[in-house]
Amino acid sequence: MSARLQNKVAIVTGGGAGIGEAICKKFAREGAAVIVVGLASDPVREVVDEILASGGRAIGYLGDISYEEAAKDCVEVAVKEFGKLDILVNNAGAFPAVSTIDKYPTDAFEYMIKNNVYSNFMMTRAAIPHLQKTHGNIVSAGSEAGHMGEPQNTPYGGTKGFVHAFQRGVAVEQAKFGVRSNIVGPGPIDTAWTHKETGPMDAKMEKMTTQGVPLGRRGTPEEVANVYLFLASDEASYVTGATYYVDGGVTISKGPHGDEVPSNLKKEPVGGLNLKHSKDGNTKIRQEATASMS
Ligand SMILES: NC(=O)c1ccc[n+]([C@@H]2O[C@H](COP(=O)([O-])OP(=O)(O)OC[C@H]3O[C@@H](n4cnc5c(N)ncnc54)[C@H](O)[C@@H]3O)[C@@H](O)[C@H]2O)c1
Repeated sequence: MSARLQNKVAIVTGGGAGIGEAICKKFAREGAAVIVVGLASDPVREVVDEILASGGRAIGYLGDISYEEAAKDCVEVAVKEFGKLDILVNNAGAFPAVSTIDKYPTDAFEYMIKNNVYSNFMMTRAAIPHLQKTHGNIVSAGSEAGHMGEPQNTPYGGTKGFVHAFQRGVAVEQAKFGVRSNIVGPGPIDTAWTHKETGPMDAKMEKMTTQGVPLGRRGTPEEVANVYLFLASDEASYVTGATYYVDGGVTISKGPHGDEVPSNLKKEPVGGLNLKHSKDGNTKIRQEATASMS
């Protein structure tokens, strides 16, 4: 099978860790030249070196791409180094706190607006003129939380909801220039965030995170990268404005949240209707004549 991203040039933000590392390595293995983007404290250098050592093409870019200057510079560096830009992966993001909304810290809210919203906007705006030239595409990290909301980190879901709506708008607006845009919505993935030892989740939230997953486990970063690869490749040429959930089924499942409700709040209202048939519904296969009721 030929490499699916042969001769493509891809920027991957947040490429030094977590899901981003998997996207960078997957794309490089499929023939793309990758610009691995991260903050100065991220292991970007290691990821680049590992890609080079396995025969791939990659450079690192250290900078905070939620700032306009860094986003523009990152795109310029990519085009200068590799001559063009085919793919922008907006993967960088943050999940800094767990708290109910009444106590939610303002600085954590602002941090997510910066890293989840500004970064996506700044990189998209800077990349679009180059993607128009190559008829390229964007794949952004949304979340099942961007669709369903996220209890215990409600602003996080809000910032991901922005990504979903923003990129759907980009998809429609840019279609006439041959540019596609899609969203990947991971469920709980096996990165630092979903472990109480390495992220802000406490033991209870960590447990609830996987309890509601029909497939019964976290996803791996590579399982998410597989879907990024498809959407970024020419195989997805008729896919735009789509959200692909890579979530073990959590978005469609109802989750364990009912367990959390105290019994005094579970009381049903008495109601004012004289209902006699609420449990008389047809729940079995019945062999009844379908004679008219006249
Ligand atoms: N892990 C999950 O369970 C999960 C679930 C749903 C969505 N997501 C989304 O997937 C993406 C990746 O998640 P992850 O778990 O791999 O995270 P991660 O923290 O392991 O990696 C994210 C990387 O992005 C970098 N980054 C953040 N803001 C940046 C900025 N402004 N400029 C440059 N680099 C920046 C971070 O430093 C970090 O290295 C995020 O957007 C996240 O919202 C993750």
